[in-house]
Amino acid sequence: MIDKQRIPYEKCIFVCVNDHHGQKPSCGDHKGEEIFRKLRETAKVRGLHPRMRVTQAKCLGQCSTGTTIMIYPNNIWYRGVTLDNLGEIIEDVFQEL
Ligand code: FES
Repeated sequence: MIDKQRIPYEKCIFVCVNDHHGQKPSCGDHKGEEIFRKLRETAKVRGLHPRMRVTQAKCLGQCSTGTTIMIYPNNIWYRGVTLDNLGEIIEDVFQEL
């Protein structure tokens, strides 16, 4: 039986952690997994996790630009995310909640 409900999150953040293992560029080449863990941990530390879901994605079709983060319901994405520029993205994304 299908259970259809409204999503309880105000914001969903999808972080690409896909790794093509060197066969072609991928977010795995740009520490996508570490970026995902840092975002999720920051959401938890700030008490945002009940209202925000930070989850992993397997390829968002932007493989050559660096790690990609896609955000709903804002309908935006950040491409070329690195551990170095993640701080400014965190402030941008989390300030609305
Ligand atoms: S591997 Fe991340 S967008 Fe394709």
